[in-house]
Amino acid sequence: MACIVFGVTGGIAAYKAVEAVRLLVQRGFEVRVVMTEHATRLVGPDTFRAVTGNPVSTRLFETTGPAIEHISLARAADLVVVAPATANLLAKMAHGLADDLLSTTLLATRAPVLVAPAMNPDMFNHPATQENLSILRRRGVHVVGPAKGAMACGEEGEGRMVEPQEIVDKILEVLGLGQKLIGHRVLVTAGGTREPLDPVRFLGNRSSGKMGYALAETARWMGAKVILVSGPTALEPPPGVEVVRVETAEDMRREVLSRYGDCSVLVMAAAVADFTPAVRSEDKIRRAGKEGLTLELVPTPDILGELCEARRPGQILVGFAAETGDLLSRAREKIRKKGVDILVANDVTRPGSGFDSDYNQAVILFRDGRETELDLMPKRDLAVRIWEAVVEMMRSEPNGEGNWQRRNDQAQTTE
Ligand code: CTP
Repeated sequence: MACIVFGVTGGIAAYKAVEAVRLLVQRGFEVRVVMTEHATRLVGPDTFRAVTGNPVSTRLFETTGPAIEHISLARAADLVVVAPATANLLAKMAHGLADDLLSTTLLATRAPVLVAPAMNPDMFNHPATQENLSILRRRGVHVVGPAKGAMACGEEGEGRMVEPQEIVDKILEVLGLGQKLIGHRVLVTAGGTREPLDPVRFLGNRSSGKMGYALAETARWMGAKVILVSGPTALEPPPGVEVVRVETAEDMRREVLSRYGDCSVLVMAAAVADFTPAVRSEDKIRRAGKEGLTLELVPTPDILGELCEARRPGQILVGFAAETGDLLSRAREKIRKKGVDILVANDVTRPGSGFDSDYNQAVILFRDGRETELDLMPKRDLAVRIWEAVVEMMRSEPNGEGNWQRRNDQAQTTE
């Protein structure tokens, strides 16, 4: 889960930070709020604690855990946001001052930083603030706003913090996620299926579900409504995602078929069993009196194959191919045979990638013959690349995104 450290300083706009944090939590981000002393005079830390479900950090020497807090926050962050960012905080950042928890965290982090300045227009236009901002921009700090308008102090001008949704949009942009799947409902399958032999045994596979869960999580970040049909896994379901738990290939087929009609995209990341025992014993199979045991297996339904035939025009189907050698030629054969739009192929025997790893190395094949070979990367990053491939395909379809039944009503409920 992406962790956003959200700094709140003592500007009147601190109340708007609550809404920005709420929107982020709703999108499934892990948000850790750090407040300056002055910010706590404007909004109570309990408000942020209630919205995030996490402790709120305010003081340098009052840690909420065993670690040195500014370092652990700085390392945990995938992004540090400061909203509102006062002139004082910008000055401290520009000059490397570190005298409270937020400024020390900002000095210690290697994550990207986004600030949303908010202050009186004269303070904003003061050469000191302008120089500080240009120092920060040169260093790669992202800046959103301020906007023009009426200020809390009664004056008009440039200095209002931008609205919470604009902060969220900018965060998604900095994280490379954008709003690319807003208005879409997507179905993702994950994990391995289990085919029961008797009440205590099953035929399974080594899929951990991590790739499918990363796809569900990142689709949610990108604004989609997500349904995750998952085989048994030890993973926590991503927040904001509808999870349907299944066990067998037949269960998965039933749940996918009943839901996919409403979806613009289906990604079959699950490792579905290809065969299932012909007979499921009602009682535990006993060892006594047997020299050996031969199992008769029968094929399971090919879910992806069935969906390819039943799909609506414009629906995008993504398949996976877990191979054990001869990756490209098998993948090329599979995309042709399966009739999917995109096939993500990976060699599961490669060290450091595939089953149970947090990393994966894959080739993305497109139905028009294009192929993108990717480096070894975290499964979450690969998931974003897969969604980007899907979005690109939707845009290039002649009856693509424009003709999609965009579910704006649902998109709004996700916000
Ligand atoms: N799949 C499916 N239904 C099945 C088996 C697989 O929908 N009964 C899906 C997987 O989720 C995956 C894709 O089909 O997205 C390819 O799975 P894979 O097992 O690699 O392909 P197979 O067609 O089973 O080919 P083979 O086992 O011969 O490599």
